Amino acid sequence: MVSSLNGKITKGNNNTSQWWASKEDQAHFHGLLKKAHLIVMGSKTYEAAKQGISLTSDKLRVVLTRKPKKYASEAVPGRLEFSNKSPKQLVSSLAKRGYSQLLLVGGGEVNALFLKSGLVNELYLTLEPLIFGTGKELVAELPLDVKLKLLAIKKLNKRGTILCRYAVSKQTR
Ligand SMILES: NC(=O)c1ccc[n+]([C@@H]2O[C@H](COP(=O)([O-])OP(=O)(O)OC[C@H]3O[C@@H](n4cnc5c(N)ncnc54)[C@H](OP(=O)(O)O)[C@@H]3O)[C@@H](O)[C@H]2O)c1
Repeated sequence: MVSSLNGKITKGNNNTSQWWASKEDQAHFHGLLKKAHLIVMGSKTYEAAKQGISLTSDKLRVVLTRKPKKYASEAVPGRLEFSNKSPKQLVSSLAKRGYSQLLLVGGGEVNALFLKSGLVNELYLTLEPLIFGTGKELVAELPLDVKLKLLAIKKLNKRGTILCRYAVSKQTR
């Protein structure tokens, strides 16, 4: 995830971060995408990103939606699937299919769901030196109490974009 200093993952009503995220963050993010074989996102993130997604045989993307039928015509089994399973059910069914790592790419609603289910092990967070008055939150509002431990921190550019890598050390209540 990339956020403003005050935890916004979108700027106002604009639903993409590519206009304000630094090129260094985008390079880091594309590096993670390149390595991933399994990518999970919420339907709003999918809607915001889908023009830029190219489906390849080495990657399965799963989009969480309560209305998978709505997306039936866009689904490509093994490459792009739509699911209304709970995070636990989803992870367990994907593990049975042989996946051992999952890259969760947001947005805030789905981040909250996975954190609540205790299914996040690590968090990569880029902090851009920006403050937005309005926009979506990194983690949507849910009762959560998650403790993390900083594993690494790197300054990505002269303006002071910071990339942090955390381990989730204690799960939710
Ligand atoms: N800055 C960043 O790093 C970053 C990263 C990712 C995304 N974003 C931005 O964040 C925005 C989207 O974030 P968001 O929080 O609004 O939405 P989101 O988490 O991407 O997606 C929310 C959607 O997930 C589905 N969902 C939620 N709970 C579910 C459940 N229990 N079971 C099944 N499906 C469920 C629902 O889809 P349906 O409505 O289809 O049922 C819901 O509308 C986009 O603008 C995107 O560009 C920014």
